[in-house]
Amino acid sequence: MGFTEKQEALVKDSWEIMKQNIPQLSLRFFSLILEIAPAAKNMFSFLKDSDEIPHNNPKLKAHAVKVFKMTCESAVQLREKGEVVVGETTLKYLGSVHLQKGVIDPHFEVVKEALLRTVKEAMGEKWSEDVKEAWGEAYDQLAAAIKAEMHAEA
Ligand code: HEM
Repeated sequence: MGFTEKQEALVKDSWEIMKQNIPQLSLRFFSLILEIAPAAKNMFSFLKDSDEIPHNNPKLKAHAVKVFKMTCESAVQLREKGEVVVGETTLKYLGSVHLQKGVIDPHFEVVKEALLRTVKEAMGEKWSEDVKEAWGEAYDQLAAAIKAEMHAEA
């Protein structure tokens, strides 16, 4: 069975909750990334020169929001079209930014784990195995599209 309407709703509903708390969740997301993979710090321009994760950094927030939001958009596309469709220009941009920053495939698993833990903390009692699977699937398909572009460009 493909991505269901219920799964789409689970992702959209949690994103609505998360939207209300972007500054805190962005910070949490990045602390989880660094907790899981401390070496990732040096790839991010806004992390590499400081000992602490900067509060209210627009680039940090932008990356967190992109990951949250594009995963949510992927859930909608998966339900509507059965696949993730990223515009060619956006995909090329995503492929080249990540290649240039030295991102490799295993990093996508790190970000997935941090994303799922961030959603879990944001959702509190509303978190469930179904929510986890829906976000996980939407993220995996989006990550696959970006990785494929990175491999094509490399
Ligand atoms: C930059 C999205 C996964 C590391 C960017 C940018 C976007 C983006 C849109 C451009 C900057 C911006 O406009 O904010 C995504 C999405 C991801 C993903 C949607 C997963 C679905 C990853 C992973 C890593 C990573 C797995 C490595 C752990 C970076 C770095 C930059 C970047 C280092 C440059 C940021 C800077 O220093 O300013 N990403 N990304 N991204 N991404 Fe990702």
